[in-house]
Amino acid sequence: MGFKVAVVGATGNVGREMLTTLAERNFPADEIVALASSASVGKEVSYGEDDILKVQALDTFDFRGIDIVLSSPGGKVSAQFAPRAAKAGAVVIDNTSYWRMDPDVPLVVPEVNPHAIAGYEKRGIIANPNCSTIQMVVALKPLHDLARIKRVVVATYQSVSGAGRAAMDELFSQTRAIYVNDPVKPEQLTKQIAFNVIPHIDVFMDDGSTKEEWKMAVETRKILDPDIAVTATCVRVPVFIGHAEAVTVEFERPLSEDRARAALRDAAGVIVVDHRADEGYVTPAEAAGEDAVYVSRIRRDPTVPHGLNFWVVADNLRKGAALNAVQIAEILASDYLGGRRRSGRNNVEPLRRKAANT
Ligand SMILES: NC(=O)c1ccc[n+]([C@@H]2O[C@H](COP(=O)([O-])OP(=O)(O)OC[C@H]3O[C@@H](n4cnc5c(N)ncnc54)[C@H](OP(=O)(O)O)[C@@H]3O)[C@@H](O)[C@H]2O)c1
Repeated sequence: MGFKVAVVGATGNVGREMLTTLAERNFPADEIVALASSASVGKEVSYGEDDILKVQALDTFDFRGIDIVLSSPGGKVSAQFAPRAAKAGAVVIDNTSYWRMDPDVPLVVPEVNPHAIAGYEKRGIIANPNCSTIQMVVALKPLHDLARIKRVVVATYQSVSGAGRAAMDELFSQTRAIYVNDPVKPEQLTKQIAFNVIPHIDVFMDDGSTKEEWKMAVETRKILDPDIAVTATCVRVPVFIGHAEAVTVEFERPLSEDRARAALRDAAGVIVVDHRADEGYVTPAEAAGEDAVYVSRIRRDPTVPHGLNFWVVADNLRKGAALNAVQIAEILASDYLGGRRRSGRNNVEPLRRKAANT
């Protein structure tokens, strides 16, 4: 007697990770449907170690009977299908940027504002924040509780997986092309990414910032505190998986390095690795495949009365996307949708065991 779950964008970077995470965490699902564009109909995707799912078309899928939708098909697609799925009775947990700033849609990081999930009833949609915002607010929350944050200055170092499967392929093919002296032609990203860094993620806005930078500011305020000032510079780097951030925080009250380190050590979802030695900090390659938000290099910022600098790293496909969405689904299932559990009516294919197919 579990829930019926649909994963929209199941062939993509985030969708595949959502299927893996649902299986790893034994989400109480008795049926899972994999949905993507009509071009992917019939493709197979893995659900955990033992199960495979055949991809169905989102366009024609009937959401009646589905309890929870985990979605990552891009903003334009979410704009269209999410209200349709919600109208059919599902709760949509959406990874795209489309719904995040809608006042009737909660924007949730379970370690920070789990209570906001209750707001799902207004539209039947819950938004998952931007990957860079998620890992930053997980680290900011315990410090804000101690000394109230006034201002955050952040520079990001974001991996190419944040721009989808095709951008990962682009890093690979450009790296190879450079080694064999072939020409390099940017297609997914705006400039050459191999052996380079690009200070441009998402579109430019009127004030000269990019939309990714704007997202970090407005999403942090919606999730954590509307009074926090945030200024960001977001940079794409030639790393496959894992985002890093250099964060500078100014507080209202004094906060020593030691108190900050202790609070972060106690915080849900955070692992502190902070020794002033070669192995005493975490890099994206080490965080890839892991669930935690890693905090390193905690130190005083001597340029303001109450300031700290630190380094935050997480797997953008896990905590930055799939894991955060599945954590929301877990709370939704246990605290809000418990009464829906039933076997019986369904319009979805039951899980097919991999073993039966080999
Ligand atoms: N990657 C990250 O770190 C991250 C983090 C947070 C949020 N997000 C957001 O999540 C979304 C997906 O990211 P991604 O990295 O998974 O991208 P991706 O690897 O390019 O995958 C895109 C997915 O969307 C599906 N899709 C595209 N057009 C569709 C349509 N018309 N109908 C149904 N499905 C469609 C694709 O299916 P086909 O294979 O059939 O084309 C594929 O499954 C984006 O909005 C992104 O901003 C990504």
